[in-house]
Amino acid sequence: MTEELLRLDGVRKYFGLRGVPWQAAQAVRAVDGVSFVVRKGETVGLVGESGSGKSTLARVATRLLDPTAGRVEIGGKDVTRVRGRRLRPVRRRVQMVFQDPQASLNPRQSVGTILSTPFRAQGTRPTRTQLVELLHQVGLSEEHLERYPHEFSGGQRQRIGIARALAVSPDLLICDEPVSALDVSVQAQVLNLLADLRDELGLSYVVVAHDLAVVRQVAGRVAVMYLGTIVEEGPSDQVYNAPAHPYTKALLSAVPVPEPGAVRERIVLTGDVPTPIAPPSGCPFRTRCYRAEDVCATERPVLQPVAGQTEHLAACYFPEPPTSERT
Ligand SMILES: Nc1ncnc2c1ncn2[C@@H]1O[C@H](COP(=O)(O)OP(=O)(O)O)[C@@H](O)[C@H]1O
Ligand code: SF4
Ligand SMILES: [Mg+2]
Repeated sequence: MTEELLRLDGVRKYFGLRGVPWQAAQAVRAVDGVSFVVRKGETVGLVGESGSGKSTLARVATRLLDPTAGRVEIGGKDVTRVRGRRLRPVRRRVQMVFQDPQASLNPRQSVGTILSTPFRAQGTRPTRTQLVELLHQVGLSEEHLERYPHEFSGGQRQRIGIARALAVSPDLLICDEPVSALDVSVQAQVLNLLADLRDELGLSYVVVAHDLAVVRQVAGRVAVMYLGTIVEEGPSDQVYNAPAHPYTKALLSAVPVPEPGAVRERIVLTGDVPTPIAPPSGCPFRTRCYRAEDVCATERPVLQPVAGQTEHLAACYFPEPPTSERT
């Protein structure tokens, strides 16, 4: 079996409300029981509307945040409670690329200093050759080392963010909305760079995006989040062509179908996303679901295989049948 790079088991992350005494009932349940595995060589997409908990999950998985409950394993090691210097080996294996390169790069630091930071965090000092090599890997050159973030375009700044993540030669990059802040024309270039790096360096990725088209372009497997939980997961072609969960189906119905002449029934989601402070009982999607019945309010449905398809999972009492909706 292929090596596991990341394993999350029942991960929860609750944030206390400001000024309110800590009580689970009054917490923001940003991530509410997620189990998830990434193996070597995979590119997994994580999609969902804004506020579904994607960024929080990414930060817990990279141990930038402590989970409230559950277990985080990196490279087969339990790192749930690892802190401080003991996080160094975790950082060497898993790095994060952030959405907004403008905000994540220190404007007062030169590119050389920015790229040196991950080395220093590991207690080492990079040579100039190593820094130049990093720039080459992301399509920049030696002359950029002495420049400052404001001298670059958005796409170039994201390349610097990627170079910084590559500095310690990680196995897994968790990219949180890596192209959302970029112009559409530049998005493809950055996504192509990620694909090239995957082939050259044998990297694996989790690509977080609210844009389903972006994830479809890069990911072999996709997980769909709603209100802090994964409601559907599976090989991208199965999830995109035959979504089983009503939420996925609704999300996809708003995306244009790539083939000319093909049509897809449009499902308009009614109601707002409920607050993660008091999520609905039972199925978190039931307040907006077109298939909801009484049983949906009882217990939360568990992720389980969709009829006849072992790798395609959905958390729903009444999943859509596994047929292609394009036919
Ligand atoms: N530090 C925090 N304190 C309180 N609530 C937070 C914090 N970070 C995120 N949240 C809340 O957690 C939920 C999930 O947020 P987030 O993980 O950023 O979602 P996404 O990345 O899918 O948009 C949101 O309701 C958000 O307001
Ligand atoms: S469990 Fe019920 S409410 Fe939830 S998605 Fe399925 S049909 Fe809809
Ligand atoms: Mg986010």
